[in-house]
Amino acid sequence: MANTIGFIGGGNMASAIINGLIKKEVYSENNIFVSAASQNTVDRLHKTLNVNSSQSNAYVVENSEMIVLSVKPYMVFKILDEIRPFLRPDQVVISIASGITLKKLTAALPQQKVYRAMPNTPASVNMGMTSISTLLDQNEPSLVQVEAIFNAVGKTAWIDESLMHAAIAVHGSSPAYAFVMIEAMADAAVLEGMPRDKAYTMAAQSLLGAAQMVLDSGLHPGVLKDQVTSPGGNTIKAIAVLEQDGFRSSIIRAMHAAAEKSRQMEEGN
Ligand SMILES: NC(=O)c1ccc[n+]([C@@H]2O[C@H](COP(=O)([O-])OP(=O)(O)OC[C@H]3O[C@@H](n4cnc5c(N)ncnc54)[C@H](OP(=O)(O)O)[C@@H]3O)[C@@H](O)[C@H]2O)c1
Repeated sequence: MANTIGFIGGGNMASAIINGLIKKEVYSENNIFVSAASQNTVDRLHKTLNVNSSQSNAYVVENSEMIVLSVKPYMVFKILDEIRPFLRPDQVVISIASGITLKKLTAALPQQKVYRAMPNTPASVNMGMTSISTLLDQNEPSLVQVEAIFNAVGKTAWIDESLMHAAIAVHGSSPAYAFVMIEAMADAAVLEGMPRDKAYTMAAQSLLGAAQMVLDSGLHPGVLKDQVTSPGGNTIKAIAVLEQDGFRSSIIRAMHAAAEKSRQMEEGN
């Protein structure tokens, strides 16, 4: 494992990954370097995560073996122009920016080993899902190191880059869909008289448990659904309403919209 890691951009996603890396003791705080645009964020990163933080991107590049590009997509190439003079050929660069292709990253960084990753914010509680793509050979030694970073904060999957749009829809954006569902479930429970704090715990814990059952059992989700729907019971009544309201097709259309947006971003970058 590389000893030092740097993040250019210290916002939501970088903070989530850093949190996970520290919790899992993959990197110690003093081996993590982060830059951000504002002094406010720099101070917050130091105060909340106890990492080395700075407004200088050169400082991060000079101190890090692995570099994670975690700025907004529109900033990526501007930042690459800025840090190029400080980069060494042995450094590994991982971009987590949506819509920035490996072809463009590799063209901008011909000397570096380049990866594209799509993580999600549950990385902050070590329950992340990250898809990773690279144009490098399967025997490239840094593959193992890159996977280890994201394995430390959840699960990883190597995918062909053409599947990145699907990955963005199914796990990049989906925590937000789940938050909306938890909020709606809690509202419904509150409507039935449940105190709000209990309602959020109950809704979140049941989604967490259901997801864990899918992962642990390996059973088709439909089989698990059948197991909890007794004839004429409460659950099938609820499922019937969800079907009537187009729950499944709404999710499919929503995710297709996310993938389409991702395709547009890629074309625009
Ligand atoms: N959020 C997600 O769920 C998610 C999931 C997968 C991938 N991503 C990708 O992750 C990337 C970051 O997203 P985010 O949600 O973390 O965004 P964010 O919270 O807005 O963070 C962006 C960070 O970049 C910093 N920054 C801006 N200009 C900079 C500069 N010139 N040099 C160094 N740092 C600079 C900002 O500093 P200040 O704080 O000082 O403004 C901020 O800390 C995006 O490319 C996004 O596509 C996000």
